[in-house]
Amino acid sequence: MKVLVTGGCGYIGAHTIVDLINHGFDVVSVDSNIRSTTQLLDGVEKITGKKIRNYKVDLCNLEDTNAVFHENRDIVGVIHFAALKAVGESVNEPLMYFQNNLTSLINVLKCVKEYNVPNLVFSSSCSVYGNAKDLPVVEETPLGEAQSPYARTKQMGEQIIEDYSRVNDTQSILLRYFNPVGAHPSALIGELPLGKPDNLVPVITQTAIGKIPKMTVFGADYDTRDGSCIRDYIHVTDIASAHTKALQYLIEHRNASNCEVFNLGTGNGVTVLEAIKAFEKISGIKLNYVMGPGREGDVIAIYANNTRAKEKLQWEPKIGIEDCMRTAWQWEVSLRNKVLSN
Ligand code: NAD
Ligand code: WQD
Repeated sequence: MKVLVTGGCGYIGAHTIVDLINHGFDVVSVDSNIRSTTQLLDGVEKITGKKIRNYKVDLCNLEDTNAVFHENRDIVGVIHFAALKAVGESVNEPLMYFQNNLTSLINVLKCVKEYNVPNLVFSSSCSVYGNAKDLPVVEETPLGEAQSPYARTKQMGEQIIEDYSRVNDTQSILLRYFNPVGAHPSALIGELPLGKPDNLVPVITQTAIGKIPKMTVFGADYDTRDGSCIRDYIHVTDIASAHTKALQYLIEHRNASNCEVFNLGTGNGVTVLEAIKAFEKISGIKLNYVMGPGREGDVIAIYANNTRAKEKLQWEPKIGIEDCMRTAWQWEVSLRNKVLSN
């Protein structure tokens, strides 16, 4: 069975392709490489022994997108990862975010409709909840005020798919990721932040390796157990396996409701200081950090109730915070070794 993965050259897309192949799916990727190269697909090939075809196509171009679907009329589903995802950038470039993330989604849906693709899985984000008051958040938790244009593109993307699914035959699943972190245990694929990273785990590993001289913990006085923010860090291979399971669920449950939503988190909240301690423990490195003021727009605490994904998708996140940090660190070290050997 063949699956079309958009954004397959990116961080989560590449890990998901590995999991899909390990479960017997054939995969083609579409990625314009606006935020990636084909480097991770080379890693996927080393891990799986399979060459992945990537169509270098901007999904905002309907004609080119249509040509990919035309050539792959036998697909059982689309997993739509492709999007711009930098929260800070979206604040400064809102039109670029709405244009890219929504036009590409609408074009994918137009092709899904034209070629009668039966199944669609969409990358959403816990940022759709905004500042949720009651924790952990369940899928029914009302969506809050989006804290950035990026988060708004995810809220709007979900609504577009819900409205589309209501009147079309395609079955859809919206997966709300919490904080995906870590790398494949082979250290052949992982996160490749372009430029200076904003996310906590690449900031930690780049500080430890010396690319960043000193990092700041954003916020020390929040009303949490140690004053720093709480997040639900979930390993990228656990996120990846949920996509395979979501697709299998859609294929096996033809009468499932046309659009279902699932939280993908571990269910455990971890503070920034606990994440740093976990890193220091697994690496043996004392991290150079200072406590600083809170970051604008940050949610103080959020973590998932993941019962629905566990029960319906038979999904179980397996990896805890220490192994998240261990694999992220192995990946950072492998990137440095690559630079040194070139
Ligand atoms: P990524 O940037 O590594 O991968 C996204 C890929 O999409 C990139 O390779 C990029 O080149 C491609 N792309 C973007 N716009 C495109 C377009 N118009 N046409 C074709 N390709 C395009 O990001 P990721 O971390 O792998 O995220 C994948 C998805 O998951 C995104 O939708 C993101 O918003 C969502 N998400 C990510 C996180 C996270 O923390 N990584 C959390 C929640 C949700
Ligand atoms: C985590 C925690 C920071 C860097 C964002 C998006 C969300 C999703 C994941 C896409 C926070 C703290 C960070 C640093 C720090 N992406 N931190 N020092 O903000 O939870 O979520 O990425 O969908 O939508 O909003 O992730 O990794 O940036 O931050 O103290 O140098 O680490 O304040 O508490 P965030 P993050």
